[in-house]
Amino acid sequence: MGKHFLLLLLGLSLVVGFVQALTCMKCSWVNPAGICEKGKTTCVAKDGEQCDRLIVSTGRDMLFGQQDCSSRCLNNTFIHYNIKLDFLCCHDKNLCNTI
Ligand SMILES: *[C@@H]1O[C@H](CO)[C@@H](O)[C@H](O)[C@H]1NC(C)=O
Repeated sequence: MGKHFLLLLLGLSLVVGFVQALTCMKCSWVNPAGICEKGKTTCVAKDGEQCDRLIVSTGRDMLFGQQDCSSRCLNNTFIHYNIKLDFLCCHDKNLCNTI
């Protein structure tokens, strides 16, 4: 007990912290071909954050997409007339919000 226990706890927290680190794609403008045209980078999700992805489309045609790390992401699709907003939120693997 004592020192060893503390070391064990420290080790465990490092392992857990490492396992939880999640890298997401970040882009403020993904064009219809799926290519990031503006602000391409990656972000590391902080506590409570996940990777989010939004695809805006009309009918079958994608207009643009966005990717980020977010603590308030949604898994939802909203349709307004023929504009579709498709929100996705994921944390199952790194870069899971790739478009
Ligand atoms: C969204 O769906 C994913 C995959 O099913 C799930 O892991 C995640 O927790 C959900 N996020 C929210 C905010 O509902």
